[in-house]
Amino acid sequence: MSPKYIGSIDQGTSSSRFLVFNSSGEIVTSYQSEYQNDYPNPGWVQKDPNEILSSVTGSIERAVSNLETQGDSVSDIVAVGLTNQRETTIAFSIETGEPLTDAIIWSDIRTSDIVSRLVAKDPGVQKVCGLPIATYFSATKMIWMLENVPAVQEAASKGTLRFGNVDTWLIYKLTGKFVTDVTNASRTMLMDIHTLKWSKENCDFFGINPDFLPEIKSSSEVYGVITSGPLAGIPIAGDLGDQQAATVGQLCFSAGEAKNTYGTGCFMLFNTGESPIFSKNGLLTTVAYQLGPNEKPSYALEGSIAVAGSAIQWLRDKLGIINSAPEINVLAQSVEDNGGVYFVTAFSGLFAPYWRDDARGCIVGLTQFASRGHIARATLESVCFQTRDILEAMNKDSGTKLSLLRVDGGMTNSDLAMQIQSDILGIKVVRPEMRETTAFGAAIAAGLAVGFWKSKEDVISQVRDTEFCPRINEETRETMLKGWKSAVEKSLNSV
Ligand code: G3P
Repeated sequence: MSPKYIGSIDQGTSSSRFLVFNSSGEIVTSYQSEYQNDYPNPGWVQKDPNEILSSVTGSIERAVSNLETQGDSVSDIVAVGLTNQRETTIAFSIETGEPLTDAIIWSDIRTSDIVSRLVAKDPGVQKVCGLPIATYFSATKMIWMLENVPAVQEAASKGTLRFGNVDTWLIYKLTGKFVTDVTNASRTMLMDIHTLKWSKENCDFFGINPDFLPEIKSSSEVYGVITSGPLAGIPIAGDLGDQQAATVGQLCFSAGEAKNTYGTGCFMLFNTGESPIFSKNGLLTTVAYQLGPNEKPSYALEGSIAVAGSAIQWLRDKLGIINSAPEINVLAQSVEDNGGVYFVTAFSGLFAPYWRDDARGCIVGLTQFASRGHIARATLESVCFQTRDILEAMNKDSGTKLSLLRVDGGMTNSDLAMQIQSDILGIKVVRPEMRETTAFGAAIAAGLAVGFWKSKEDVISQVRDTEFCPRINEETRETMLKGWKSAVEKSLNSV
């Protein structure tokens, strides 16, 4: 009998899930565990790596139990793909297999002083790795750990220190192999984006010993076999950073196609084909995927927004103006427009295209008229405006005008948010019916590695799309954009 299913681990910033797909790309079963990160100081975001691991293994156990309740068997899963929050940095000991400190999450800005120091003597790291020096990427987080955590310093001097992103940590704990893939490595500032190897130049500049870094593999091959738990004996055969996985899951395989994923943050990737393009407008150059060790890599331009779903969580957990995330739509719908209120959600500074870690969140335009509804609407609009800023940069860099944007992720469940997005962009926004595109992308990579699907073309997408078209006129759009730009100015000058 032919193999039936591919499993997919999706380890995000606020939750972990395990999903099982059939060969038509339909979800057979899934389980999600939400969790909270720790915010011990302003700008710090961290998490115990063992808790990240247990949220993954817990999701696997629950999903497999669901699968068996449905009358299927775990032995029907032929391979597992893995996709993960990127840049988040974990230091562990190869001697004990245990973490040496908490993971520093990608949105943490504790390294801003390290960044200022490095920027002043930057020999041109972006030409090598495609990324500007910023708090976002892994290398500055590694430096912080080396400078501030005695256990990391001790392991470095004994040679037992290992650094990894979340993919490396999970694959190590699940299979015992110390590896990463090209997409995750391309987020560290340490990989040469042309050769797909650790760059001696950049490792020297950042002071990171490459012996402490994992082996870089393609995004689609067998990395190791799971050693324990309900998936024991099944290979992990796909590994992609979550945004790259969503690009694959949206089947953006041709140059010129783009997707935008609204998760904890929001990330637009524009496939540029087999050559990296270096941005003149604040975008990142990244590896989109390499679907096999003998395949050519595809590259992407990326626009990153640090805060999307996390702003909705903030409304719920810190301001308490909603009780659950979906309530934001009811509130936002209760008003006709933003009433002149703009919310720049720069909790971790502003990422693309600004790259200002000193920007701070601000709500502007408040009058006595403003209500919770206006703040809710301004929160959704903030992500949509930042997406527009990125689209403009992408149009400039690529020299073409994108006429359609594929979307996925939590916020796309809101029809209102996607209508606002289309209104603000002035182009068509296309949402697939099956929205687990990130997990699906990792499943595709694993399925291709083990012959579950024979080629990219063999991956059948049975998804039906919903399209949102602009409904506001140019004049209204321009007025809104003017209000947004002036709010951004205030955010950039707030400290
Ligand atoms: O670069 C950070 C990104 O990978 C996090 O994605 O979906 O957890 O916001 P998400």
